[in-house]
Amino acid sequence: MLNSVDILRMTTHELREKFLHFFATKGHAIIPSASLIPEHDPTVLFTTAGMHPLVPYLLGESHPKGKRIADVQKCIRTTDIDEVGDQWHLTFFEMLGNWSLGDYFKKEAIEWSWEFLTDSRWLGIDPERLAVSIFEGDKNAPRDDEAEGYWLNAGVPKKRIFTYPKEKNWWGPAGETGPCGPDTEMFYDTKRPHDPSCGKECHPNCDCGRWAEIWNDVFMQFNKQADGAFVPLKQKNVDTGMGLERVVAVLAGKTTVFETDAFQSTIDAITGLLPRSLAQPSANPSIRIIADHIRAAVFIMGDDLGVLPSNVDQGYVVRRLIRRAVRHGHTLGIGREFTKVVASAVIGHFASSYPELERNADRVLKEIDTEEIKFRATLERGSKALERILAGKNAVNGNDAFELYTTYGFPFELTQEIAEEKGMSVDETGYKSAFAAHQELSRSGAQKKFKGGLADHTEKIVRMHTATHLLHQALRMVLGAEVYQKGSNITEERLRFDFSCPRRLTSEELARVEKIVNAKITEDMPVSWEEMAVEEAKQKGAIGIFTERYGEKVKVYRIGDPSIGSGQVFSQEICGGPHVDHTALVGHFSIAKEEAVSAGVRRIKAIVT
Ligand code: SER
Repeated sequence: MLNSVDILRMTTHELREKFLHFFATKGHAIIPSASLIPEHDPTVLFTTAGMHPLVPYLLGESHPKGKRIADVQKCIRTTDIDEVGDQWHLTFFEMLGNWSLGDYFKKEAIEWSWEFLTDSRWLGIDPERLAVSIFEGDKNAPRDDEAEGYWLNAGVPKKRIFTYPKEKNWWGPAGETGPCGPDTEMFYDTKRPHDPSCGKECHPNCDCGRWAEIWNDVFMQFNKQADGAFVPLKQKNVDTGMGLERVVAVLAGKTTVFETDAFQSTIDAITGLLPRSLAQPSANPSIRIIADHIRAAVFIMGDDLGVLPSNVDQGYVVRRLIRRAVRHGHTLGIGREFTKVVASAVIGHFASSYPELERNADRVLKEIDTEEIKFRATLERGSKALERILAGKNAVNGNDAFELYTTYGFPFELTQEIAEEKGMSVDETGYKSAFAAHQELSRSGAQKKFKGGLADHTEKIVRMHTATHLLHQALRMVLGAEVYQKGSNITEERLRFDFSCPRRLTSEELARVEKIVNAKITEDMPVSWEEMAVEEAKQKGAIGIFTERYGEKVKVYRIGDPSIGSGQVFSQEICGGPHVDHTALVGHFSIAKEEAVSAGVRRIKAIVT
């Protein structure tokens, strides 16, 4: 059992402050967390580690704050989404890190890690409870004797230094290519009761539960190329990572991150909504899932580059997080809308460390509520249909899953989750082929429809006109809702779209815009219009130029239909038309050029094929 004098009671806030303060005394500049949406790496959806936003500087670009940096980076790891609910997995977490950008290397990194962990002015951990690991060497890089030497100098006995292969003691690249290198990890002996069968063989990477990794120092010496080659980096860097919530929990002798202060007010908010009290809320998997998912959704939406729930990329992750939270709320018997209440608790707890949450709070609360309302309706309709479909069966076939999706807006993953809970499987291949067959049908229907031709507009121009609406909305998603149309011109050859934006778009942003537009085309959303008063259009959130030249009534074109499919309206825009009937008719969209028109106005030229 844990000896009470060994317990280090610290809040996440205290550890954050201590860490940054320590590295400031070692000449590090403290920088704020970068966005959760990676700006430099189109190969991943989210920032998954502290190194991510710093990649250009790790590759040699000079950082405006110098060569020594420390930070607390917001991270999202979605590979773990299905494991959330256990003791340690989190979708969103904070990672403490210190960085040398071509400055100090192994010696200082190791000495300072040791000092921070063991010195009584900092964490004051008993050295007897620590062990470290180093890289054992392979064909790409030698055994890390150098790191071992510094640990020995610091006073770590040889029997507490363990060697492991690449799977354990190598880090990066964060995407498919980029900086990487051997690492050295620090472990804390929790002295928790563990599976004794490992006996003398027990070691820091043993799965028995005794050892907890608390810090990782990566020595970045290589740049992994697309062809798999490891090329030595021009500058050697240090990247360290300490998972904030995990370390606070481990040092306090807790057995789960959900028992730290980071989750206190969120879990209180959830339990306040429950129909009956629970003995140990932080041990309940549904409560953990709601707390984790709403926290992650709030951080993604509340980022300054934040994304809203949608059916693509990051937006889809947000949608899944909210939907899973709503389902677990349902399981717990919360009979009314609740995500907004939990989200407010998250914002309240974190706003002082992450002011962007406060700045974007209105948007976050409104969107989370809207998404919940929509999903509750879906859940109700779809659940009944699913019950009917499941009755008397032991598996869900592809056509049923597809019908649940098209008719009731029940996403495939949801059908799968519910079926799995009932011990049934869902035929994913069958679902995919039903989906593909549907798309084929839409395409051939499109060709027929265009035969008659449209009064003043050629087929190509109409297709590009709808593409313009998709583009407009995609730009707002990628760049922010302040982006609006400044002009548009369509010829047989291309569409041209001018919009407000003070700077050049990065190639990643352009790629994301293109991807969103094409995803909406593939989703084959219905396009419809309705006439309404200007005031009503505004109220409904339609975009477009609200000027006097519109009469009393305006036509609002809508892409997506709230009553069918995913229930999502992607775009609403004041416009005279005409447009295609559904988005699959647009064809493939590609951006040909992005350029300046005048100060604050950019232009995109694009084609559809
Ligand atoms: N990049 C390393 C990690 O994520 C150290 O920061 O563990």
